Amino acid sequence: MNIAISGYGRMGKLIRKIAEQQDHSICAVIDPVSEEAQFKELNTESLSNADVVIDFSVPSSAVENIKRTAQAGVNMVMGTTGWYKEMEAVRGIVEDSGIGFIWSGNFSTGVNLFFSIVRNAASIINYFESYDPFVHEYHHKNKADSPSGTASMIGEIILEELDRKERMVTESLKRKIEPGELHVTSTRGGSIPGTHIVTFDSGVDTIELKHTARGREGFAAGAITAAAWIKHRSGFYGIENMMKEIIKGE
Ligand SMILES: NC(=O)c1ccc[n+]([C@@H]2O[C@H](COP(=O)([O-])OP(=O)(O)OC[C@H]3O[C@@H](n4cnc5c(N)ncnc54)[C@H](OP(=O)(O)O)[C@@H]3O)[C@@H](O)[C@H]2O)c1
Repeated sequence: MNIAISGYGRMGKLIRKIAEQQDHSICAVIDPVSEEAQFKELNTESLSNADVVIDFSVPSSAVENIKRTAQAGVNMVMGTTGWYKEMEAVRGIVEDSGIGFIWSGNFSTGVNLFFSIVRNAASIINYFESYDPFVHEYHHKNKADSPSGTASMIGEIILEELDRKERMVTESLKRKIEPGELHVTSTRGGSIPGTHIVTFDSGVDTIELKHTARGREGFAAGAITAAAWIKHRSGFYGIENMMKEIIKGE
């Protein structure tokens, strides 16, 4: 597979390393600042040989990078987080262009299994009103956005499964939390690759589900798996579509 890497930071460099170990070819590295990049922007020239673009850049560039990739007619794996308020606009851009597009706030297989476990747990807890859910995540001090894309995805899953929760709140609250609100909070510091904890707390005990990433390799390997999956497809997909196919063996 010919892969163009958009964003040559920590994730972009790791994707190059793992893709080359798997005998894929890196046909372009695109980054406006990195001296190791051959191109500064996504366009028909920088993407001329690419089967798939893998983008791990910055939240403020994500939507523009999607538009440019769609204009060039190249399929895309979007790993950058922090653009999800534009989800419907992005779906329209992708569907109008006919490209294949897969996104996730977390491409690691373990986290995607964790999503399934949280969904099952929340659907059971739905019958037990005394358990109140909340979500907390920890990430390294250089992370640009909060809450993490993964924490937002966990929050969405809980909102879908728990009838008594209607919306997420992510700020620090200077008031009592409303009964329909789900609190999703963040800590930034050190070098933590990503830890997510889902708690269901009752008056008498606590049930805690926790995923701890040991490093970033799982994200990079998952993004390359997603690139191979999206290469021959068109349309707008979340990683859950790919996971369902793998689990069902379709
Ligand atoms: N989905 C997942 O599995 C997953 C996993 C880990 C991280 N992430 C997300 O991926 C993104 C990148 O993370 P990271 O840790 O690799 O960050 P990083 O080390 O800061 O790398 C981002 C790189 O993108 C560059 N960049 C800025 N604007 C760009 C543009 N318009 N086009 C292309 N590249 C551009 C940055 O350059 P400058 O430094 O000069 O701005 C930097 O080199 C973040 O949004 C993070 O939350 C997702």
